[in-house]
Amino acid sequence: MVPENIDLVPPSRSVVEQASVPDPEALGERAGQDPLAFWAAEAAELEWSEPWEQVLDDSAAPFFTWFPGGRTNIVRNAVDRHLAGPRKNKLALIWVSEDGKETRTYSFHALNRQVTQMANVLKAMGVGKGDIVTIYLPRIPEIWFAMLACAKIGAVHSVVFGGYSADALRDRIDASESKLVITADGSWINGSVFPMKDVIDEAIRFSPTVENLVVVRRTGSEVTMDPLRDHWYGDLTSLPIAKGPCPTEPMAAEDPLFLLYTSGSTGQPKAIVHAHGGYQVGTYATTKYVFDIRDEDRYWCTADPGWVTGHSYGLYGPLLNGATSFMFEGGPTFPYPNRWWSLIEYYGISIFYTAPTAIRSLMRFGKAWPNRHDLSSLRLLGSVGEPINPEAWHWFHEVIGGGECPIMDTWWQTETGMFQICPQPVMPLKPGSAGRPFYGQEVAVLDEQGNEVPTGAEGMLVLKHPWPAMFRGLYHDDQRYIDTYWSKYPGYYLTGDSARIDEDGYVWIVGRADDVIKVSGHRIGTAEVEAAMDSHPDVVEAAVVGLPHEVKGQSIHAYAVLRPGANGSQELAEAIRLHVAQHLSPIAKPDGIDFVESLPKTRSGKIMRRVLKAQALGEDVGDLSTMDTEA
Ligand code: WT7
Repeated sequence: MVPENIDLVPPSRSVVEQASVPDPEALGERAGQDPLAFWAAEAAELEWSEPWEQVLDDSAAPFFTWFPGGRTNIVRNAVDRHLAGPRKNKLALIWVSEDGKETRTYSFHALNRQVTQMANVLKAMGVGKGDIVTIYLPRIPEIWFAMLACAKIGAVHSVVFGGYSADALRDRIDASESKLVITADGSWINGSVFPMKDVIDEAIRFSPTVENLVVVRRTGSEVTMDPLRDHWYGDLTSLPIAKGPCPTEPMAAEDPLFLLYTSGSTGQPKAIVHAHGGYQVGTYATTKYVFDIRDEDRYWCTADPGWVTGHSYGLYGPLLNGATSFMFEGGPTFPYPNRWWSLIEYYGISIFYTAPTAIRSLMRFGKAWPNRHDLSSLRLLGSVGEPINPEAWHWFHEVIGGGECPIMDTWWQTETGMFQICPQPVMPLKPGSAGRPFYGQEVAVLDEQGNEVPTGAEGMLVLKHPWPAMFRGLYHDDQRYIDTYWSKYPGYYLTGDSARIDEDGYVWIVGRADDVIKVSGHRIGTAEVEAAMDSHPDVVEAAVVGLPHEVKGQSIHAYAVLRPGANGSQELAEAIRLHVAQHLSPIAKPDGIDFVESLPKTRSGKIMRRVLKAQALGEDVGDLSTMDTEA
């Protein structure tokens, strides 16, 4: 629902006084009249070794190309260009270990040294332009070095979130045919070691492609090293191959920069492809305008580098703007629920970008925890991943932001690469709404037939225009790209979200309209969880649905049909949950499992998840015969 009488929160005076763009409406209007001129001007603020011939080529839509003819490399703009000026000795990264005992800082100069070293190592191991390198690392500086090192030499990084299990990892490594994987001996999670190296060993045991595994020492835990395949990164860096300069490869604007797997409504996860040129322009401009990032800022994006937020607004966007970032290895509540607040105080964080689920979980511990800390260094807050409920919004605004910091509720997706719907710092905010489309973008909310719904009504959210950081497709799957995103409403990009637009043009995201569940902001496909459950020997067939959850936003609820003779006990339910954690990821573990005799299906055999969901919520299931075709 678009709440009525929603309180409009005006920007505080200090925000207005300091704003780099005091009149975003005017800029928005100009950008709206000529989006390509707007994007060309943004691109011109970055360095290119060859100028582009055209800003956008849409002749082969929906395969759009941005800045064709141009040559650049995102590392040139994120790292190299800062070395020539006063930012050379500015901190690019401040990192703190989970136990708080280690701090590592890197100036742009030092970052370049680290990236160059890793790039030299990768090259010496035979990695070249276009090769896909899988990165499976904890939240430590080396994950940045690895991503940037790949980009620097023209290799394509494919980061897999450090919490994924062996099966999920194997699928992603195999599908991308990686010859080299970068990992660590383990990672720290709330004081214990997660055995990353063991997980990767299992994932690549029979890999037809992986030739080398580079292992970063992190936890010091005992691991088995395959003498032919595995190499300690620390040993490699002391070899002559790691020494000396390494040129940043000039890339065609459209050359791929990274793959990132994300869940869809059906089947296997999709590999989203992003390219050097447009992606750098989009993430650069959005970070600059929406976070109003400046040289004196200390910026903290809490997202793991393994998700797209960690790519676009953890790593690339801030570095492209020459900003100082903060990275914390641990989570928000270990050992106490003031961990984040104490870090904000100690490091003087000024821009803090996090997720609604984290805010809600920290809210439960009460404001006494944040109130113990001086959070006055903060000037801007951000939220991403799922709709933020007004209660959490106000808590974030008052208790963390002292009522002074605007909250940038940014709507975007792995596919979009950059913000699409978001406020601007000086814009009056409506708690719970992600604001308006970013410069150069327009959105619409459509009904099933493709007509725009009346103001305030709910429908399918589409994006009307291409944008530079848009994904360039799904790796090796053009047809799925067309079918999933561009076929339902020709000419428009289908987001998969359901939304409303109010009379002021503010967009209210309702949530996913497809079979994707957002658990704590993580995107999980029902099909993946079902496949993991189906692989349990006692399960014949499974179905999962997302149910509303106070902290996580949504939780996974599962239904399983058991093989004849299996005993539907609590123990078995627990065993199946564990099975999903081990075969997919702990974040995909169903909260509850109901054992059922059969699953409701359409005549063509598709599971009617909507019926299950309605039943679970005690809602009217509706006329099942009519659901048959649409389920
Ligand atoms: C889905 C994309 C891109 C950042 C991390 C998630 C939901 C994202 C918001 C927001 C309401 C949001 C949408 C979207 N979403 N940001 N500010 N308000 N919903 O990326 O894993 O690709 O998920 O996240 O449902 O479709 P992702």
